[in-house]
Amino acid sequence: MNEKKFSILKKIFFYIESYGCQMNISDTEIVISILLKNGFFFTENLKIANIILLNSCSIRNKVEITIKNRLQRLKYLKKEKPTLFGILGCLSNSMKKKFSNSDLIDFTIGPDFYKKIPSIIRLSMEGKKTFHNTFLDKKETYSNIDPFRKKNKITSFLSITRGCDNMCTFCIVPFTRGREKSRDPYSIIKECENLYQKGFKEVTLLGQNVDSYLWFGSDGFKKTIYKKIYTENKKIIDFSNLLDLLAVEIPFMRIRFSTSNPHDMSPKVIETISKHSNICKHIHLPVQSGSNKILKLMNRKYTREKYLFLIKKIRSIIPECSISHDIMTGFCNEDEKDHQQTISLMNEVKYNYGYMFSYSPRPGTYSYKKLKDNVPEFIKKKRLKEIIDLQKNHSIFQMKKYIGKIQEVLIEGESKKNNQYWYGRNTQNIVIVFPKKTYKIGETVFIKIIDCTSATLIGKEQEK
Ligand code: SAH
Ligand code: F3S
Repeated sequence: MNEKKFSILKKIFFYIESYGCQMNISDTEIVISILLKNGFFFTENLKIANIILLNSCSIRNKVEITIKNRLQRLKYLKKEKPTLFGILGCLSNSMKKKFSNSDLIDFTIGPDFYKKIPSIIRLSMEGKKTFHNTFLDKKETYSNIDPFRKKNKITSFLSITRGCDNMCTFCIVPFTRGREKSRDPYSIIKECENLYQKGFKEVTLLGQNVDSYLWFGSDGFKKTIYKKIYTENKKIIDFSNLLDLLAVEIPFMRIRFSTSNPHDMSPKVIETISKHSNICKHIHLPVQSGSNKILKLMNRKYTREKYLFLIKKIRSIIPECSISHDIMTGFCNEDEKDHQQTISLMNEVKYNYGYMFSYSPRPGTYSYKKLKDNVPEFIKKKRLKEIIDLQKNHSIFQMKKYIGKIQEVLIEGESKKNNQYWYGRNTQNIVIVFPKKTYKIGETVFIKIIDCTSATLIGKEQEK
């Protein structure tokens, strides 16, 4: 029946929504590119789409609920025209069973199998449901795919590693995205050059743990046993080498990266950031907790003392560097003393900004299976509110330091709140808005900061 419905269509349009982290947004660009090459047509209009794809992350329970609600709201589309629903990304791997029992979902594809998406869609158009998600691929890094990027944008993401080897006990990523794989450095440089030719002015290198990027001659697993052999042969390219290469090869591109794991960030990387003016002076350094007891339970592989030492090192080598964090409250066995340790760590560091969450157990992870989710919900929320309020104070403290100073801003677009203002960021990744007079998107300008909120600097153009 489906086969007939789809065979009468001259063009098959697909529509895609991304949920979750930057990695997912970057994956969406890969999926769009694969589908366009295979004869499908991209639309941003839901109403005309025949293939509706939800590319979703599964890091926290909240996303799962968002996706379920979104599907309910979209299901009427199936009645109006031939429409297929597909779930892509991490969520398809973690929710395999539930999805295969749903009438609404026609197919699922995990993050390592996007190249199969055209054939899976065709099977679904013939009425065959496919829940292709159980495996993870040891080699796929999509290094030969040129991701689709929207026109008129000047900043872009670029994945350099996929998966993660760290096995933090709360985290589902190693299960949904598999072991860490580093991408061919030459394909990264080529893509970055291409982006620059197309008018992009800033690129963010993405990975769950960019500092453990390691290339030893072929796509795929970074096996410790090979590490030694290749280091001896000097064939290895690590994250600091990669940053160096990119900064030199594409000298007018602003380069950012995320995420750095405190355990893997080396002094060499810090030196490299300080050496190149086009590598942005911002480090996202998730700490998760200020308590050694909790860090150990999380299997984070660093202590509070080592983390604080790293912060000192960063600030001594790059004094102007901004630092942001991820912190999670209410992890298993977290008591008030542990929470106070987190607060005292925040007070010591005074981060520029951060992302804060309360722990949600994810099926399949070590903490879900072996530890007790024993912090009551209301305490999780109370602690979360406390750290959010504290961060706000620290953000304001840091932002005020910019008042009266001149900042170099890359203009990215109009401010969402007021189209009479430009919106951009400085090297520290701090948002700056200022009234439009001259200039255009993509230009780098010098702006005097005159005011701030906890999240935004407000400036004015320098008199010429
Ligand atoms: N690779 C990054 C983290 C990626 S996940 C790192 O090195 O830390 C982004 C953030 O989501 C994490 O830093 C953590 O704070 C949060 N997170 C991950 N799993 C979670 C869970 N089960 N419950 C609540 N927050 C979680
Ligand atoms: Fe997750 Fe820890 Fe890796 S948070 S993505 S297992 S660094």
